[in-house]
Amino acid sequence: MSNKQGFATVAAHADGHDKPMHSHTWPIFQTSSFVFDSPEHGARLFAGEESGHIYSRLGNPTVEAFERVMSQLEEGDRTCAFSSGMATIMHCTMPFLKSGDDMICGDTLYGCTVDLFQEHFPHYNISVTVVDTSDIAQIQAALKPNTKLIFLETPANPTNKITSLKKVSELAHKHGAIVAVDATFASPYFIKPLALGADISMHSLTKYVNGHGDVVGGCLTLKNPDLIQKVLKFRKVHGGILAPLDAFLVLRGVRTLACRMERIQATGRSVATYLRNHPKITRVLYPGFEDAPGHEIVKDEMTGVGGTFSFIMKGGYDAAKKLLEEVKICTVAVSLGSFDTLIEHPASMTHACVSEELMAKQGLTRDLVRISVGLEDDKDIIQDLAQALDKL
Ligand SMILES: Cc1ncc(COP(=O)(O)O)c(C=O)c1O
Repeated sequence: MSNKQGFATVAAHADGHDKPMHSHTWPIFQTSSFVFDSPEHGARLFAGEESGHIYSRLGNPTVEAFERVMSQLEEGDRTCAFSSGMATIMHCTMPFLKSGDDMICGDTLYGCTVDLFQEHFPHYNISVTVVDTSDIAQIQAALKPNTKLIFLETPANPTNKITSLKKVSELAHKHGAIVAVDATFASPYFIKPLALGADISMHSLTKYVNGHGDVVGGCLTLKNPDLIQKVLKFRKVHGGILAPLDAFLVLRGVRTLACRMERIQATGRSVATYLRNHPKITRVLYPGFEDAPGHEIVKDEMTGVGGTFSFIMKGGYDAAKKLLEEVKICTVAVSLGSFDTLIEHPASMTHACVSEELMAKQGLTRDLVRISVGLEDDKDIIQDLAQALDKL
């Protein structure tokens, strides 16, 4: 039997048992500054000669408690938490790129990530080459002498495109580039990007990790000490650290991640199977199906696919819109990984800022609806979809 603790045990205990004032859960250190014993003490902390807390933009005990748990769950050496998933993406990229560099990114990414890379990076003279990362030959062909980083999502939002992290990491490292992976859709429960060779694993904590729909946050995890230092230095000046109250909430969320993901995985499969057999649905983009593109990679590199996936309506946009109008249990809202089922229309909502050309490239059509199943009973979600589909 392995001595390595399981995911749920780490989630319950990795923040340590000797919490302040014998508290059972981590207190919220709702403070901006920490008081120095003396001017010399402050100077030693600033000089890095002694460890301790200075100011909550640089580090905070509640945030660090969450970071310790997450770092172990991600099988890394250091997690850094941020005020949003987007702030995390800044820290996955900006500390490692400079003017004149090129970055390769996946063609299927969350809309604001596309916006950041396409609209803003060129202002810093950083070029971005967009490829289908599920096709390793396309990455190979896109690598240039100045390619420093590959950023991708797997499974990708919203079509669930799957990329092999083993293959991409091997290729990138031969070239001297680093690999950053947004693994939000799978959660840390179903994929371990660092163990598969990636350099940076990131999550929007807003989604599965928090799981209660009441926090916006993000985090990234690393192993390489040089990369860790670069991220910490950038976070200090960028100022995007997670707030102590939000760290308390995501730490609470992570305790139940394993059991939530097991249930969401089972419900996701039932709902995807129901939709696949429905005459008003053309296709369900669920990578858990044996015949789905990338399923072999799922079996090799993941332990599950979670419960966020898209499906294509036979009646085009009108049918998609009507479905969203008619659902009663499913909540019409963006985000994913919440306690309740969320349903949305990516082309006009989460991905509305993506160009039509890129939408076409990634198969993001106006007849596509995204669902993120929640913790409700699967029969109720299915019945809700059934009654809404009946009205089309
Ligand atoms: C895959 C993915 N990554 C990153 C983000 C950005 O996260 P946040 O909204 O926490 O900034 C999102 C948001 O929906 C997302 O879906």
